Amino acid sequence: PFNPVIAPSILSADFARLGEDVASVIDAGADWVHFDVMDNHYVPNLTIGPMVCDALRNYGISAPIDVHLMVKPVDRIIPDFAKAGASTITFHPEASEHVDRTLQLIRDQGCEAGLVFNPATPLHILDYVMDKVDMILLMSVNPGFGGQSFIPSTLAKLRQVRQKIDESGHAIRLEIDGGVKVDNIGEIYAAGADTFVAGSAIFNTANYQETIAKMRQEIAK
Ligand code: DX5
Ligand code: ZN
Repeated sequence: PFNPVIAPSILSADFARLGEDVASVIDAGADWVHFDVMDNHYVPNLTIGPMVCDALRNYGISAPIDVHLMVKPVDRIIPDFAKAGASTITFHPEASEHVDRTLQLIRDQGCEAGLVFNPATPLHILDYVMDKVDMILLMSVNPGFGGQSFIPSTLAKLRQVRQKIDESGHAIRLEIDGGVKVDNIGEIYAAGADTFVAGSAIFNTANYQETIAKMRQEIAK
């Protein structure tokens, strides 16, 4: 039901000239900006927060900003990201004491809400919140770093989530994050994903437009 979305992860962008780099990836045909927030506590790395999201909005970035929170605790940073211009906010259930409350908090702040599942996190937590999520994000690497390899067992998990979404009757995006490249995006799409995060595969190439176009060709096959 959803158009496929390509969401470059700005974790692999040039932080010293971030506005310019993000503008050029949007000009190159990207749909969303994927914004990775790491706290050196829930995950072993430290990145960027609401101030940088706000700065991108002030710079003129108008594409949806997909904020992926890898922080614990998660609730108190959510209103700050909503104010800073986040469009979608996703979080890991392990990082929230009250998952239902956190999902509601995100929607109350006017953003779309999503849950993120690590490679070894079971899916049963979805059973009672399918009416409260706008997006489900499956991690195909362990969170914390860009440039890791896609974990193959994620394909079977994607098919399971696709089935859960279809059976639920709700309009829920299915996003995949980690190790997505031109040469595997086709099979990831076939397994049911509609929203594709790619960091190193886009930002480490010389021509963003060509890479994004190749990704679109692979999912149109
Ligand atoms: C990992 C992040 C990803 C990462 C993806 O914790 O959530 O968004 O930047 O990077 P690539 O596409 O290089 O695997
Ligand atoms: Zn991410």
